[in-house]
Formats: sequence, C-alpha cells, structure tokens
Amino acid sequence: MAEMAILKIGEEVYELPVIIGTEGERALDISDLRDQSGLITLDIGYKNTGSTTSSITFLNGEKGILRHRGYSIEDLAEKSSFIEVCYLLVHGELPTKEQLATWDEDIRHQTLVNEDMSNIFAAYPTGSHPMGQLVAMVSSLSSFYPESLNPNRTPEQQLHTIRRMLAKMPTICAMIYKKSAGHPKIYPNNNLDYVSNFLNMTFKHVTEDYEIDPVIVDAMDKLLILHADHEQNCSTSTVRIVGSSHANLYTSISAGIAALWGPLHGGANQEVIEMLEAIRNDGGNTEKWLDKAKDKNDPFRLMGFGHRVYKNFDPRATIIKKACDQVLTKLGIHDPVLDIAKKLEEAALNDPYFVERKLYPNVDFYSGIIYRAIGFPTEMFTVLFALGRLPGWIAQWREMRADKQPIGRPRQLYTGAVSRAYVPIEQRGAVTA
Ligand code: CMC
Repeated sequence: MAEMAILKIGEEVYELPVIIGTEGERALDISDLRDQSGLITLDIGYKNTGSTTSSITFLNGEKGILRHRGYSIEDLAEKSSFIEVCYLLVHGELPTKEQLATWDEDIRHQTLVNEDMSNIFAAYPTGSHPMGQLVAMVSSLSSFYPESLNPNRTPEQQLHTIRRMLAKMPTICAMIYKKSAGHPKIYPNNNLDYVSNFLNMTFKHVTEDYEIDPVIVDAMDKLLILHADHEQNCSTSTVRIVGSSHANLYTSISAGIAALWGPLHGGANQEVIEMLEAIRNDGGNTEKWLDKAKDKNDPFRLMGFGHRVYKNFDPRATIIKKACDQVLTKLGIHDPVLDIAKKLEEAALNDPYFVERKLYPNVDFYSGIIYRAIGFPTEMFTVLFALGRLPGWIAQWREMRADKQPIGRPRQLYTGAVSRAYVPIEQRGAVTA
C-alpha cells in the first residue's frame, strides 16, 4: 500500500500517493489532483516538478552524485569509452566484448551522409553560427530516411535509426567545421574509431596527412562521456516533449539541439571562453568582473557558474578541471585564460554572494579550455556538447517511446483579461495597445 500525503484546503482533504524511486527519492503523485479538486500545481521553470520517471541517469545535486544506469561518472570517465557509454545509455547495460564490437561495427558502417546534404551546407552563408546549421542538418536526416518518420516501428528498426543518428552526427559536425573554415570536407574513414574518425574529418586537410594524437583522442573521449546525459535538463526535456507527439527521432533531437544552444544551457561553453578572453583583454581584473556578476542592475552573469540541480559541486567540473591541467601539460600548451579561470574560481568560491547562493563551476567552466587546446574555434564548442549529449537524448527518447508515455502538455494559470465584448475598430480609443 503506497504511503499517502494529505493535502488540506479549507475543509476539503485530498490524498496524494507518495512515489519512491530506487535511490529513496520521494515524489508526490499529483496526476489525479485536478480531477479530485479542480486544482493544478504551479511551478514556473519546473524547479520542483518531475516530468517523468526514468531509469537512465541518477543525479543528487546536494551530494554531487551523477550515475548512468548505476555507474558513477567518475568510473565511466576513467575506465570506459564514449562508444561504450552510448551502448550503456541506449541499452541499459554495459556491453560484452562481442556486443561492443558489433555496436561499434554497425555504427562505423553508417558514417557517410548523403551527398545531397552538401548542397544544403553550400547554401549557408560562410560565418553563420554552427549551431543553426546543426539544428537544420539533423532535422534534414528525416528527409533522407523517410522510414524514420514513423517512430513506432519494430524495436530493431528503431535501433537502426538510432545507430544511424549516432554514426552521422560526427560527420555532420565535422562538415560544419570545414564549412566554417572554408575547407573541402573530409570523408569518414571507417577504419578509425568513433572519436578518431571525428577528429580526422575535422582537422585533416585534403592536402596533408593528419596524425591522430592519442592524448587528444583520450581528452575528447572523456569530454564526450562527461556530457553524455544529464537527466531532465532543458534540452532533454525538449527532446522528450517533441518526441511525445510521436515526432521522429531526428527532428526530436534537432529540437534538443536548439534548446541546448541557449547561453544558460550548452551555449555557456562558448560564452565562458569569450568572458575569460574579455577579462584578459581588460587587464585580468577578476574582482571587477565578479562585481559585475553580483550587480543586479548589470545583466552580466559569471558564465560557467551555477546550476539548477548541483548545489555543492558539479562532479563533471571536478573531472574536467583535472583533465584540463593534464591535457594542456601533455600538449605543452600554456593558455593564459586557464590562469584567469582558476583565479576567478578561487575568488568566487570565497565570495559570500556565490557561497550563499551555492554557485560553483559547472561542466562548461573548464571544458572550453580543453576544446581550444585541441584546436576547435569557440563557435564550435556547443556543437561538441551536442555530440556528447546525443546518446542521452536518444536514450531518453527511446525510454519515453518504450513506456508509451502520453503527449506532454502542461497546464497554466491564466492571468489575462477576463471575458469582454469585442470593440469595433471605429469605436476604439487612439491608444488601446
Ligand atoms: N552569476 C551570477 N549570479 C548568478 C549566477 C551566475 N552565473 N547563477 C545564478 N546566479 C544568482 C541569480 O542571480 C540568483 O540570485 P538572486 O537569488 O539574488 O536573485 C540566484 O543566483 C539563483 O539563480 P537562478 O537564476 O534563480 O538559478 P537557476 O537554477 O534558475 O539557473 C543557471 C541556473 C545555470 C541557468 C544559472 O546559474 C546561470 O545562468 N549560470 C550561468 C550560465 C551557465 O553557466 N549555464 C550552464 C549550466 S551547466 C550546463 C548545462 O547542463 O546546461
């Protein structure tokens, strides 16, 4: 018998079941509340609303815990590979050697994108933002693979669409980079692993060989793992809500990419580097910029700081900060913005404004410094976040379809004008708007 919570409004008493998750988290099930009482719940920005049950990712923001399918992010980042984490997220279990080999092989053989997609790229103005192109290109896949338009096909057909999405994403991301650089595209080389293939398509020039550096492959692999899923964030919730109307996978993912682009979400990684550069060009006075971030009349925020869920530390940021030092040392790079980032972090962590509001560096604070060391231009950073987040979006979309969840459709509390008579135009005052 489920534990019941009692809600008392005036003389009326309502009973609400308490649902308990596998990690002991408790939720009030309010799905019948409106039928019982006529009341809805109001929670602007979904700060305390669970939109779904899910068995993919567990996150405890107070303790800084992040686990995928039960495995800690620390273990996955250190011991796994991105392609294995993709399997884990989509299938729910770590693969056996054979399963991983088949998964890898199936994905490797679908990396080519239809040549006609190059014509779409050709139409974009040079210099247009890579994320706008990524949104369009991923949605375009639904036109090249019309069988994906029905998301309710057999599980094997659905998996085929999923593997295709995973396979083509690095190719599309690399094509976007080549377009921005004005260089001819490099076709996939299916002898290479997922990450090496992406780096090769991105950084190889048609006229020269490109030597794949294992330090860079490792760093990139780790960064992709660290972004692979993050439960019901803005972009993932978008993927779920778009997919809940039975929209196809490609278009649902494309909607998630659009949500990711915003500077409060994945777009923050680009903004962090731009902010650090601005501080450096301004003489490196971090106190001045902290004061700006604290000033409520100034729209500036300390980018890469704060999180809706993490209130102690972001475990991904801890791993990335360490990796950042290691990668730059191994590559023999000294980036002055890393010194500014560390100085800024230390000052913020000792400042009552940030301490009281529990604002800590998030995943985006140090990631851009590694991307930059690898050689990516700043505008590509959010594309790299999307490449990493792809398996998470896919797993969440697949889970929602498997659970046969209903269409997502929130309620609202109306605060506009009450019913009034239509006023013919000639009787309206001069200033009615
Ligand atoms: N700089 C200065 N003040 C901040 C910051 C910041 N980065 N973040 C939050 N605050 C203040 C905010 O002004 C508010 O203060 P007050 O209570 O006095 O009004 C308080 O802290 C709570 O902030 P909030 O905006 O209500 O918190 P939220 O949960 O709605 O927003 C956030 C979370 C991540 C959007 C926000 O912290 C932020 O804008 N951070 C900068 C952008 C960023 O780094 N985004 C990447 C997030 S991690 C990657 C991802 O998964 O998306």
